[in-house]
Amino acid sequence: MVNERYVFEPLGEQHDRAAFRCSDHQITNYFRRYALVNAESRIANAWVLRDRDTDRIVGFYTLSTASVDFNAIPEQFSANLPRYPVPVVLLGRMGVDRRYERQGFGRRLVIDALIRAYRQDAMAVYGMIVDPKEGVRNFYTKNFNFVPLGDGSSRLFLHLQSFMDGFSAPLSS
Ligand SMILES: CC(C)(COP(=O)(O)OP(=O)(O)OC[C@H]1O[C@@H](n2cnc3c(N)ncnc32)[C@H](O)[C@@H]1OP(=O)(O)O)[C@@H](O)C(=O)NCCC(=O)NCCS
Repeated sequence: MVNERYVFEPLGEQHDRAAFRCSDHQITNYFRRYALVNAESRIANAWVLRDRDTDRIVGFYTLSTASVDFNAIPEQFSANLPRYPVPVVLLGRMGVDRRYERQGFGRRLVIDALIRAYRQDAMAVYGMIVDPKEGVRNFYTKNFNFVPLGDGSSRLFLHLQSFMDGFSAPLSS
């Protein structure tokens, strides 16, 4: 961790948001214009991965609390649950700067988000959900085994404990 080139930090004024550009225009725009204000409003916490060598933002993701109807939880994960809305964390927006694409950083962002959601113990979080952009669905299903939510939407779900049980790599910074 000492001398680690890439570090996760909560998004703040000091980060150069204008220099960030990912391959999705809407996500770039969100990051530049709304990510900080939404974080300050406590609507969606934003985490950035910063390259300490260049001070550039490599990527970012946002997390918010959410809940999912009990009936939408995939059967293999619903056995012992009460029939109430199930608390989850929403991976709201995520992007990797074009200069850093396809180098494993997207995967690293999601892993950090999952670990962060799991490690906090202030509130119960059963799983993570995401609304994948068109063309990005496989990124979640193939890399992390996200599965469709059974609510007829295109949302994906990942059971947090199952992910952690299978996670053996050293935890990211
Ligand atoms: C999607 C995104 C975050 C992926 O980031 P990345 O750093 O390029 O991804 P990684 O290098 O960690 O890729 C990990 C694996 O997923 C695969 N992958 C990457 N992007 C993918 C995509 N769009 N669809 C399917 N698989 C993808 C990679 O090929 C790689 O697999 P490999 O190791 O077998 O080669 C990035 O392309 C991006 O910012 N896109 C624009 C914004 C966006 O769409 N965000 C997601 C909103 S839901």
